[in-house]
Amino acid sequence: MVTGGAGFIGSNFIYHVLKNRNDINICNLDKLTYAGNLENLSGIEGQYPGRYHFVKGDIADESFVHTLFETEQFDEVVHFAAESHVDRSIHSATPFIMANVLGTQILLDASRKFAIKKYLQVSTDEVYGSLGETGYFTEETPLQPNSPYSASKTAADLLVRAAFHTHHMPVLTTRCSNNYGPFQFPEKLIPLIISNALADKALPVYGDGMNIRDWLHVTDHCEAILTVLEKGKFGEVYNIGGNNEWANINIVKKILEILGKPESLIRFVKDRPGHDQRYAIDALKMKNELGWEPSYTFEKGITETVEWYIGHKDWWERIKSGAYTDYYKNQYEKN
Ligand code: NAD
Ligand code: TYD
Repeated sequence: MVTGGAGFIGSNFIYHVLKNRNDINICNLDKLTYAGNLENLSGIEGQYPGRYHFVKGDIADESFVHTLFETEQFDEVVHFAAESHVDRSIHSATPFIMANVLGTQILLDASRKFAIKKYLQVSTDEVYGSLGETGYFTEETPLQPNSPYSASKTAADLLVRAAFHTHHMPVLTTRCSNNYGPFQFPEKLIPLIISNALADKALPVYGDGMNIRDWLHVTDHCEAILTVLEKGKFGEVYNIGGNNEWANINIVKKILEILGKPESLIRFVKDRPGHDQRYAIDALKMKNELGWEPSYTFEKGITETVEWYIGHKDWWERIKSGAYTDYYKNQYEKN
């Protein structure tokens, strides 16, 4: 089972697995929040007959989750579902606690009750807090989350840790840096900048634009998760990163350069409260123990990503206009 498979990374992961592993079938459990979009997976049932199905539901609904586990008899769980946007968590933290903390514990309980063989928690480097100008996050770096989003993801990681130590559950945890690529919801930096620039709209850059993120192509993240699922050691944490640090303002300028749009679109706006200064991952454990390394160069990844958003204008325009939510109303509200 994949949770959150209608979101950005989950939908990429489902495609990646179905394409690269003939012996794995997938059930995608997703609540279809504002960030879940079944258009990311349109046509997949036809492309991989009998190997994929979708179930709409909430990971924080205990009786629903237990019934689903009983009916479907999953072997493995890969847990992506989450409220994922830092800015939204600053406005309202409660949905993050419900989905990210309660939802994780309910999945852990169901996984234990129904003897799941492997449970993989998809976490984030944001649990480590913020770095200064030097240094990297290793798996031993203390957990010091600064936003309600990262605090809720940290709580979930600690529940997974407790499930291993107390109940000896077969759990794995991955902590990845910022992802980019196809199907990312256009509230996050890279798709927001590309889609706004294509529409000649202002490009909001928080603060002085000098906050640094380590960017990894989503396909590299998906392959890393699959690697941990197949070769990881239970109870361990694996950091995943691109070794690819960029100040936000330079990412924005790079996108403008690829698009041939003017820098006059850039607007420096009020900073995000509690804005983490720098994230940078030490991914040596993934390389030395599991043999994983990123395959995309940033030049190739960002150019392909910009081209993808140019070629899928319908997809992001429907999101930005809110039209995609009508699809769900038609599809589900009559059920
Ligand atoms: P996303 O917001 O694009 O997708 C989240 C998905 O989860 C959506 O389809 C949504 O409908 C679903 N969901 C939310 N609450 C749910 C609930 N209660 N029950 C069932 N489904 C629910 O997020 P994303 O960027 O794809 O991130 C996926 C995971 O990866 C998250 O756990 C996130 O913390 C982690 N992560 C993301 C990044 C990144 O750069 N995007 C980096 C590292 C880790
Ligand atoms: P984001 O994509 O929200 O990811 P995260 O906060 O989880 O790292 O933001 C990436 C960086 O870009 C972060 O430093 C905040 C900044 N940012 C902007 O400057 N402008 C924006 O409009 C957004 C959404 C983000």
